Amino acid sequence: MIGLKAVDLQTQKIDTLIVPVCEDRKIHDDRIINGVIKKALQLKEFKAEKGDRVTLYDFKGLATERIICVGLGKFKKIDQEVLRTFCGAVVNRCMQAGFEKIWVAVPAAEKLKMEMPDAVEAMMEGACLGNHVFAKYKKEKKTKPLKEINFRIKPEAAGKLRKIPPKVRTICAGTILAREWISTPSNDKTPEQFTRSIVSKARKYGLKTRVLREKDLKQHKFGALLAVAAGSQSKPSMVILEHKPAGAKKTLALVGKGVTFDSGGLNIKTGGSMAGMKADMSGAAVVAATMITLARLKTKSHVIGAIPIVENMPSGKATRPGDIVRSYAGKTIEIGNTDAEGRLILIDAMSYVVKKHKPLVMIDLATLTGACVVALGEKIAGVFTPDNELAQAIIASGNKTHERCWQMPLPQDYKELLKSDFADLNNMASSRWGGAITAALFLAEFSGDTRWAHIDIAGPAYIKKGEAYCGPGGTGFGVRLLCDLIAKL
Ligand code: BES
Ligand code: ZN
Ligand code: ZN
Repeated sequence: MIGLKAVDLQTQKIDTLIVPVCEDRKIHDDRIINGVIKKALQLKEFKAEKGDRVTLYDFKGLATERIICVGLGKFKKIDQEVLRTFCGAVVNRCMQAGFEKIWVAVPAAEKLKMEMPDAVEAMMEGACLGNHVFAKYKKEKKTKPLKEINFRIKPEAAGKLRKIPPKVRTICAGTILAREWISTPSNDKTPEQFTRSIVSKARKYGLKTRVLREKDLKQHKFGALLAVAAGSQSKPSMVILEHKPAGAKKTLALVGKGVTFDSGGLNIKTGGSMAGMKADMSGAAVVAATMITLARLKTKSHVIGAIPIVENMPSGKATRPGDIVRSYAGKTIEIGNTDAEGRLILIDAMSYVVKKHKPLVMIDLATLTGACVVALGEKIAGVFTPDNELAQAIIASGNKTHERCWQMPLPQDYKELLKSDFADLNNMASSRWGGAITAALFLAEFSGDTRWAHIDIAGPAYIKKGEAYCGPGGTGFGVRLLCDLIAKL
């Protein structure tokens, strides 16, 4: 549990108090805290540089067992992400040390170059997200999440900050839910299992749910989606989640790629490229978790979440290179490569959403191309949209939440590369270059007149090595960004 409390340090019994200390500026205005910092800085081993720390025991006048002063680095560099990272790293260390309960002293608003709510939000986010461990499959749980993390503020600040803790808890719970889904191995999240898991969680939080099952998909001719699912023993589905608050004025839609495992199909992945493909449903996980979070936050807009779920496997029933299928929208597609499966399931979901719900804005998230990771690396997502205003809004939300996005081009002349001799389109571009762009152009053919953006999260959806506020595995990249964005749209 994570909370925000105004307490008197002289009387409140505290096991462990964390004090963030800036290297070159006073950032606390509490007399006692500043006394602690003065003492710490007198020690040779502590300069308050980033990562420095020192523990003081039995500090005179305080009911605190240990005070850990931790360096925040230079004042100039302190922003929301530094605070997030700081708190994530602190929580990690405290977990390693086996602590159960910690307090963190929040710096004073006037002394930081950001607003108090932004500082508190970032600190709580870092702590909350950093306190998650994916340990479902470990018999011996070596690092256990802290039971309680309290942020200590002064009584005057309490009123203004009241709404922050519940909001941060809800949004971080969404990110963590996405992380758990993504990190779950594919043998425990077949399309049937993943569908069930999403539906049961969504219902619990009051979302309207609808599942199109294999027979419905066949009946309504989701030919592109079904072509991807053909090789698997598992049955595909399309989950539609709906958050419909009374009086909502506009309809927004989210679409998420839900490939529970991407072997490549008959164009089977080689070398190490198949490892990690359990995370090929990250777009789906992020959309489902965002929908749940929006419902819990009682967001005002009407939002549709469309989640096509399949497994991409080779078998005697699998779709072959050269096969031609008819998409939900009616366009025929030659399967140039069975490993370009994400775009096939996305276009059927997008066409369905456009036809049935006519949203004002539609955004899809997908671990779509390795090419996007080549272009932007593992931490930045690619944004593709003909609508620059929408791109800017996405990028702004990405900067605020540190789920960073970069706008990529959608050059119309590259559409040439998707031509097929026999069908309306080929799912594989004729050039091996610019693969993230040609994939996005393929999707664009199915966005109709709807304002649409595609976010390629192939890089940031998953990390092999843990970071300050995210352990190894799924990152949940996109949940915080979308929650921020949808409140603005
Ligand atoms: N799921 C992959 C993309 C991917 C690659 C995600 C690396 C995360 C990390 C996607 O389905 C795929 O296989 N894309 C191919 C497209 C190609 C066949 C046109 C790719 O990127 O190589
Ligand atoms: Zn693939
Ligand atoms: Zn894929």
